[in-house]
Amino acid sequence: MSFDLVLFGGTGDLAWRKLMPALFQAFRHGSLPPGGRIIGVARDDLSDDQYRALIQARFEEVEGAKRPSPDEFARFASLLQFVQLDLSKPADYARLKAKLESRNADTVVMYLATAPGLFTMACEQLGAAGLATPRTRIVLEKPLGHDLASNRAINETVRRVFDERQVFRIDHYLGKPSVQNLFALRFGNALFEPLWRRELIANIQITIAEDLGVEKRGAFYETTGALRDMVQNHALQLLCAIAMEPPISADADAIRDEKLKVLRSLQPWTQDTLERHAIRGQYTAGTAYGERVPGYREEPGVDPHSRTETFVALRTEIDNWRWAGVPFYIRTGKRLASRDARIEINFRPTPHPIYPAPAGCSNQLVINLQPKDGLELHLLAEGQDNRRAARKSRTLAPVQLDLDFDKRFGSERVGAYERLLLDVIDGRLNLFVRSDEQEAAWRWVEPILEHWQHSSQGPRPYAAGTWGPSASSAMIARDGHCWSEENR
Ligand code: BG6
Repeated sequence: MSFDLVLFGGTGDLAWRKLMPALFQAFRHGSLPPGGRIIGVARDDLSDDQYRALIQARFEEVEGAKRPSPDEFARFASLLQFVQLDLSKPADYARLKAKLESRNADTVVMYLATAPGLFTMACEQLGAAGLATPRTRIVLEKPLGHDLASNRAINETVRRVFDERQVFRIDHYLGKPSVQNLFALRFGNALFEPLWRRELIANIQITIAEDLGVEKRGAFYETTGALRDMVQNHALQLLCAIAMEPPISADADAIRDEKLKVLRSLQPWTQDTLERHAIRGQYTAGTAYGERVPGYREEPGVDPHSRTETFVALRTEIDNWRWAGVPFYIRTGKRLASRDARIEINFRPTPHPIYPAPAGCSNQLVINLQPKDGLELHLLAEGQDNRRAARKSRTLAPVQLDLDFDKRFGSERVGAYERLLLDVIDGRLNLFVRSDEQEAAWRWVEPILEHWQHSSQGPRPYAAGTWGPSASSAMIARDGHCWSEENR
């Protein structure tokens, strides 16, 4: 099967940092189908060789083990070509068309790694130029819009030009090996299913913590914020993976139908819950990696009076039979105490305790997503180390089963973008987001955006290197729970 992968935004940040390294890894592992071309597209005036040289220079920044040797790069470079194209100029699309028709590959992937404001124009122009054929697949990077209306407008334009089966909306979290494992844990094993319900689970916590700040993306982040950047997509996709019913098959629509049901069952916001259960924060100067780091408002490209949130903590419930009444807490932020993404399933205590157990200890399943990738099962066992205490009473102590997927599968693991790019080339939609899922997610976050926009209180400050504003702990404490680092 031959393919052409056309990379709009071919000289952009995403192409350098993620897409080209991922394509190279696929090439190196022999998983990129032979007979493919990768065609970078951008406004720059570059020859094929100049484009290859630019990519080679950028590969110097890629971590050591992933860097190609000169020989490997030369072989990879033979797949690379460049087309100069201004997205607003129809004549430029005609040149791209001529290039593609020169060999009529079986599959043509159009990857829009451009500013999202350009998606509509690019799709319309591709349609007008006759570049949307049944062999074409289109890949759309997030963020797709900045609210429900703009998301719908993009989806409607895309739909006029492409069939939904041709549209691959990326959420790179779905491509992470750890998230694949979450699906495998739930739907490849019978063990947990009987426990996965309101009768046994006290609460579920989803944390995606980053230790980095906004880095060079201040201008982008100012108009985005953590809710749009992380919650509307990555965090809600994780919540779907945890809360969805078992799909009837592994087909894309069977999976996406179940995720959609979860999004539609999220408890609607009220004035009261918006005030109590939607916390936003913004980092101030603090310490990261042992060094002083600036606050968000001092970052380049950021308004010194900015009200953009760099931290979000939410509490919600899922109104269906399986989950009614179980709090789901979602938390994400930049410049937090560590880089740590995990999901914690906190089980209820035993119904009738016959052993005294240390306070705050009950069974817990922790799904570590990054930087560690694995599972921890926290149990209680009888500790034998204190004989005198043991004679008086039997006290339980926490113990833990630890499964480290990096150790077990380490070298064989495929990175998120590599996996997703291969899926696009092969036409597998399972790990991509359908338009109705995306719209349901926007519909749910939009009242929060509106509430924050009109609220007189801005984001609460938190020092860089901490776990966010104290209001986040207070929110969860009102339910009698705590974030796990507060329990250690
Ligand atoms: C991106 C966000 O989607 O995800 C970034 O735009 C964020 O702000 C990144 O840093 C986090 O991804 P990962 O894979 O590093 O957890």
